[in-house]
This record gives sequence, C-alpha cells and structure tokens, in this order.
Amino acid sequence: MDYLRHLAEHLPFSVTDQTSLTPVTGAVAAFTAFLALYSIKNAASSSQKRSPLPPGPPTKWFWQNPFPKRDVARNFAALADQYGGVYTLSAGNNKFVVVASYEAALEIMEKAGGSTTDRPRSVVGGELMARSGRLIFEGAGDHFRTVRKAVHTALQPKAAKSYQPIQIDHARRVILNIMDNPDKFADHLQSYASSVTIQIMYGKCTPTSATSPEVQRILQNGRNGSNSLIPGRFIIEALPVLKPLHRLGGMKRICDALENTPGIWWLGRAEGTAASSFLRNMIETQDEHRLPDYELAEVTSILFGAGSDTTTVGLNFAILAAAEFPEELKKVHEELNKVVGRERAPSFNDMGSLPLLQAFIEEVLRWRPIVPIGIAHSANKDVHYNGYVIPEGTTILGSHWAISRDSTAYPNPDSFLPSRWLESPTTSPPSSPKLRTDLRFFTYGFGRRVCPGQHVANRSLFLNLALIFWAFDVVRPSKDTVYDIDGWKDTLVMRPPPFKVRFVQRVPKDIVRRALGDMGGEN
Ligand code: HEM
Repeated sequence: MDYLRHLAEHLPFSVTDQTSLTPVTGAVAAFTAFLALYSIKNAASSSQKRSPLPPGPPTKWFWQNPFPKRDVARNFAALADQYGGVYTLSAGNNKFVVVASYEAALEIMEKAGGSTTDRPRSVVGGELMARSGRLIFEGAGDHFRTVRKAVHTALQPKAAKSYQPIQIDHARRVILNIMDNPDKFADHLQSYASSVTIQIMYGKCTPTSATSPEVQRILQNGRNGSNSLIPGRFIIEALPVLKPLHRLGGMKRICDALENTPGIWWLGRAEGTAASSFLRNMIETQDEHRLPDYELAEVTSILFGAGSDTTTVGLNFAILAAAEFPEELKKVHEELNKVVGRERAPSFNDMGSLPLLQAFIEEVLRWRPIVPIGIAHSANKDVHYNGYVIPEGTTILGSHWAISRDSTAYPNPDSFLPSRWLESPTTSPPSSPKLRTDLRFFTYGFGRRVCPGQHVANRSLFLNLALIFWAFDVVRPSKDTVYDIDGWKDTLVMRPPPFKVRFVQRVPKDIVRRALGDMGGEN
C-alpha cells in the first residue's frame, strides 16, 4: 500500500510536524481511493467528447500532487518554456490550468474575466480556518458581491484619496525613524503599513509598532491563512473527505488561533470609538449589507492581513533594488532634483510628474512580483482560448512570476530595466519621459478579483519611496556587499532575505524635518 504511505506523508495535520498513519486514516484513505478511481474512469470517457484542455505534463494519480513540490513559482515558469503560455496540470480527475504568459493573462484572466471570477473550494483556508466573510476565499455569487461591494466602497479611488492624510502622517514618521535608527528600516516600513491599515480599518489613530504582539498575532494568522492558498500545500484540498480529521495536531492550533481572531476584539472597540473607519462604517450600515458581526470582524481583519505584509514587502524590494542598481536610483534622484528640489518634500501632488520614479516602482513590482504564484481563480463558465476549452469548475492559476518572465512582453525579463515602462524618447537626451500606456503587469491580480486595496497600496508605495529617495541615497554598506537577490522563498507573499543598506543623507536633516512639517493633508 505505497499510496497510503504517500498519503500519510502529506496529511496536513501539522504544518511543521508529520503524524504517522493510523488505522482510521488508513481506512478513510482507502475508501477515498476507491471513490476517486471510480470517478477517474467516468471522467476519462466523458473527456473524450470534449474539446481539449491546454496541453501539459502527463496526468498523475489522483493522490499525487500535480504541482511542483518546491519552488512552485519558478517551476511554473519552467513548465511554460516546455508547454507554452497556458498548460494543464492533472491529478486524476482534478485539472488545474496555469496561465503563464502575458497574452494569455490578458485573454483569459482579463477579457474573459467575467467567466473566471470564482474561487476554487479552499478546505483549509476557507472552511477550516474561517467560517465566512473572508473575501479572498469567497466563491462567486450573491454573498461575494455583497462583501466585495462593501470592501470596494471603502477602498475605491475616491475613498483611497481621502486616506492621504493618514498616509502622509505615517510616511513622515518613516523618514524621521530612518534618520534616528537606520538599521531598523524594515521595522519602520512594517510599522508604516500596519499603522495605516489599522487606522483605515479600525480608526486607531496612534502609531502601531510592527513589534506589537497584537499586530504580530494578526499577521501570523494572516500568513497561516494565506499560505494555505499555495497549490499542493495540503492533500486535504484534493481529498476533502479527509476534512473531519483536521482537528488533530498542528492544524488544530492554527484553526483555534483564527477562531480567536483579534478582529472580534476590535469589533467591540470600533463600536465605542469616535474615529471614522471602515469597520465603524460597516457597523452603521449593517441594515443595508446585512453582514453579521462575525463576518464584519472577519472581513476587516483579512483586509489588515492582505494590506499590511504586501505593502511592506513592496517597499523592501524597492529599497533592495535601489541599492542593487545604483545607476537606476541615480536617474530617480536627478528627476527629484529637477521636479521637487531640496527645499520641499515630495507629496501626492507630484504623482503625475515623476515618471522615472513611477517607472522604477512599476519595474520593482514586475521584477519581484509580491504574490509570485498568484491566487487561484476558478472558471464559472467554459472559457475558450486558442482552440482549447477550460471547462467550468476548473481551477485557473494566473502565475505572476511566470508572466513576469515572459520575454515577449518584457524583453530581458531578469534584468531590472525601469526604462521598459517609458515611451521611446523622441529626442536625445530625452526631454520629457512619459509612462507607456500599452504595457502593464498584474501585481494586483486579475479581472473581477483584482485587489481592491490597489489604490491605497499604490499611494503608499509612491509616497514612501518618493520621500526616502528624496531624503537619502540608498547604498550598500560596503563595496563588497553582495545581495542574495534570488533568495526569496515560495511563500504566498514573497519576501527578500534580510538585507542591510546605508541611508546617506542627500538633504540635510534640519531641512528634511522642516519640509516634512510643512507637508499638508492634500485632500
Ligand atoms: C502592494 C500591495 C498589495 C498587493 C501586491 C496585493 C495583491 C493582491 C493580489 C494578487 C490579490 C489576488 C487577486 C486575484 O485573485 O487575482 C489580492 C486580493 C486582495 N487584496 Fe490585495 N494587494 C496589496 C494590498 C492590499 C491592500 C492595501 C488591501 C486592503 C486594504 C488589500 C486587500 C485585498 C483583498 C480584500 C483581496 C481579495 C479580493 C477578492 O478575493 O475578491 N490588498 N491582492
């Protein structure tokens, strides 16, 4: 019974420890095997009548993991070299289509976005770790639309603009903190993202330290939940019949932690607070959207998880890129000298007039896509593409990393080239660089599931990086420093390995302090 041993190796009872196979789990697995073999047989005969799915590696047995075992994102890109920009991974009856090229992402995930809005069933993240209200796991349907609408209202461009004073306030602190304690820059960036998201979501006005136990707890819960979205991580996703066994071992600890999500605690606080916030607004409009308390707490706490780590990671990769590619940072510095000067600090009003900085940010987000594997969608209707059919119900993974390495759209994809985002100069030297409108990347995902926090996130990236690059030169600690730029791991949100940089003052500290004090709210 080799397959039972294989099942035992993959049982998700613990994220860190593995349990041995008991007679009970063995019996369940054997029963599952019978059911699955039966359904494979049926599927084989019905699939002969259908248009073909995109090609892919040979089908595996139903209990085998069809996904690369490690380095999922990089291996998705390698499989695209072999099978093309869209391919199918199969294990028994389960089919997964990977979208790995720019053109296919536009066609399948964007133009046909109305047919690829659903999410696949997520036993671990969506059912065991949360009861409901976690938008990210929600399948298409009325409930999804209700929650998505509420979230959209709080985060759409006009609302995002109204949070600018909050972002300015906390971005100022980042610069002052870097001047006081530059070695802890990563903590300052995490504190920024946590403070801004907590203030928008819960109305908490005082800064929130990245090291506060409360923040650490929410972030850890979020990471546990989000890592459950990595394909192939848990065999229970392929064999939901094993779900009743989940309350053993490490999985129980994770689920219990989520049950006691701090969102519930915050919910009580928001009711009593005077500050306006997403949660307070949701409580006041509860009659309209009819989401129960538990869901309000859940949806708000997942917004915190979704918005905090991702923004921090984007800022960290930009700092790394600045130190790794000084010639590109120099261009941004020249632009800041010309457009902003040294007497005032850059602000949101400069967003449209710093194309070289914008191109630098676009390239950071392509060079190191923050969510490298993407978050799985599912076809809610048959999708036709290049003579293939992706049948309704198929899981579709838009692989951000693989798309970012598509050399047709992004020549020399491994090089860091902000100029790829600029229109070809008509004069030499270029007089007024302009951002291209015919090229894009999918940092924030696809179609109707696109990240609703993107407007807030883009503003955070712009303001912090404009201020940091205006105030400092970001350099390697010594000329012998070598950065491990490829050392990121396959978590759902990728992170650079810890790195050090030196912040060299470009603008004298007293001018920086005065200029930061002069920054308005800009609403
Ligand atoms: C640089 C920062 C961010 C990145 C890179 C990012 C990326 C993503 C991606 C890739 C998705 C999945 C989209 C898809 O399924 O195709 C997503 C979904 C989501 N994001 Fe973000 N995000 C960021 C910031 C934020 C912020 C600031 C918030 C909220 C304040 C937020 C809230 C959400 C939510 C609620 C979803 C689930 C949407 C759904 O399933 O319908 N994100 N994000």
